[in-house]
Formats: sequence, C-alpha cells, structure tokens
Amino acid sequence: MRKLQFLFMFMLLSLMTSMSFGQEKRDDFYPTEIWKDTKGDTINAHGGGFMYHKGTYYWYGELKRGTTWLVPGQNWECYRVNAGGVSCYSSKDLVNWKKEGVVLPANKTDQNHDLHYSKVLERPKVIYNEKTKKFVMWLHIDSQDYSAARVGIAVSDKPTGPFKYIQSIKPNGLDSRDMTVFKDDEKSAYLIYSSEWNKNLHISKLTDDYQNVSGKDIIALPRMSREAPAMFKHKNRYYLITSLTTGWDPNMALVAHADSIMGKWNPGYNPCKGEKADLTFTGQSTFVLPIEGKPGKYIFMADVWKKTNLQDSRYIWLPLEFKNDSVEISWKKSWSLTK
Ligand code: DGJ
Repeated sequence: MRKLQFLFMFMLLSLMTSMSFGQEKRDDFYPTEIWKDTKGDTINAHGGGFMYHKGTYYWYGELKRGTTWLVPGQNWECYRVNAGGVSCYSSKDLVNWKKEGVVLPANKTDQNHDLHYSKVLERPKVIYNEKTKKFVMWLHIDSQDYSAARVGIAVSDKPTGPFKYIQSIKPNGLDSRDMTVFKDDEKSAYLIYSSEWNKNLHISKLTDDYQNVSGKDIIALPRMSREAPAMFKHKNRYYLITSLTTGWDPNMALVAHADSIMGKWNPGYNPCKGEKADLTFTGQSTFVLPIEGKPGKYIFMADVWKKTNLQDSRYIWLPLEFKNDSVEISWKKSWSLTK
C-alpha cells in the first residue's frame, strides 16, 4: 500500500514538474513550425542575429507582438506591428532556448525617439569587441513607411544586456535598410547594408571599437536589389546570402562570394534545393551560423514572414553544406545536429 502511495506521489510530482517547466527538452529542428522556449512560450525573435560567447549561443531578434496593420498611403503592402524592441534567448545546444528577456526595449513615450514603438526596429545583430570588452548591437532603424533608412548602434557590458542605445547614423551619408554585421577572424568587423533605395548592397569596414563606420566602403552587389544579407566565411572565402526585395513575400536567394571581403564579389547562384527552392522554402535569409567545434558545418537561418499577422512569423533553420565547393541548402521537414 505504502509502495502504491509512493508511486502515485512520484507520478504526480513528475507531472507537476513537467507542467511548470512547460517545454520538454528537444533534439530536432522543425522548420516553419512554432518553436517554444524552455518555459513553453513561443520564441519571439525575428530577423535574428546570433553570437557565440564563452560556451553559450545568444539569439537576438525583433519582438513582434500585437495587431498587424497596413500603413496607409503606401504603394506597397507595408504591413506593420508595433516594435517591441530586441529580445534575447540563450542556449548551449541550439535547440533548447532560454528567454533572457528584452535587452533593448522600445520607447513608449517619446514619438521622436529612434526606438519609439511606432517605428521600425529590425534585424538586430550583436558582435563582441575584445578591445573595449563591449557587446555591440547594430540594427535597422526606420520610420513606419521605411523612408528614414538609418542604422542604430547600442552597447552592453553583458551579452544579456541591458543594451544602451547610442545613436542612429546614415553610414557614409547613405541610406541603410536591411543590414547585418560580420566579424572577421582577424577581428575587423563590417556592416553590410542595402542602400540607395535597395539598389546597391554595400560593405563598410567598422571602426576599431565597432561603434561606427570607418569610411572604407564598397558596393559589393551593384544594381541587383538585394536585401536580407547573411555573411559567413569558409576556407578563407567570404559568402553572402541575400534575397530580392519583394516586401514580406518570399523570393529566390542568391549566394555571392569573394576572396577578399572588400574586393570583387561574384554575384553567385541559388543555393536552395528541394521543395520551394525558388522561394527560399518560403523564408527570407537572416543569418548563417558556424557551429562551434564543427569546422565546415553551418546553419542557414531564415524568417517566414506572416505578413497579415506578423507576430506569428516563423523560423527556418537548415544545414548549409559544401558540395564540390558549391553552397547547398536542402529542404528538410525536421533534422537534428546529433543524428
Ligand atoms: C523585407 C525585409 O527584409 C524585412 O526585414 C522587412 O523590412 C520587410 N521587407 C518589410 O516589408
């Protein structure tokens, strides 16, 4: 009898524990499906940027919450949701993510502030500066109609924030919309940004503290209307995955490459294979993450935008592989890093 009582108590306790911690530990990625954090809440970090620091991966992204509406008076489908700021999650295994909170909140009171919730805060990316020991965030800052076209900079002493907003700039006096930052092996870092009404994709070297552009700038992809840049380096060659500019709708990705980051870029080819490969599997690039301790292994990361309900936007993560020196990303309904 006592044994039965004990068994019953044990089962009840296990049930309560799994209920209070919500999410069970996972092993697999399920591209486009709802992804829960370790507490069981849906991960809300779009246009994501990733950083590996001292054994932990950090995921920064746009917090998109609330009603989606169409900005009036635009000649394109300018769907918007109030900016919630930048959220952050951490993980050791890339599958199970713990919510660290909002590390750069939207401003609630000052309509003129860059971070006011009515504005566009997109594609946050964070890199660590060894010299200053600061974590430096760059993000796309814009007005509701995307006419301001600026890039913002914030800094923190810790990867989990809080980040202190410094300013927004027009890099080299130019407009800047979709963007990313890339930190190279020899510690130089670069801003990659769509400019001149998205016609040209530029690369600008950053200053040594990573908090401004240095003045060294090239047009890597001229007159190609590319956005959503995601850069990585493999065997001393630089790669840049981008999308075409079709608002929230998906289109075909291209992977460009160059032997020197500020040199000549080859515009490239579509790396996607399989179902909906011509539409980047319905997603839009945001990052390519090298897997720590596994040289040559990368994850391609994309957003699946749900334009009329942006808070329900999803994520596509897929293995990025090299086949005879060509980049290949193949569709998979589910996959794992360990199997
Ligand atoms: C495509 C961009 O890549 C997104 O980040 C966002 O700015 C949408 N356009 C807005 O339509």
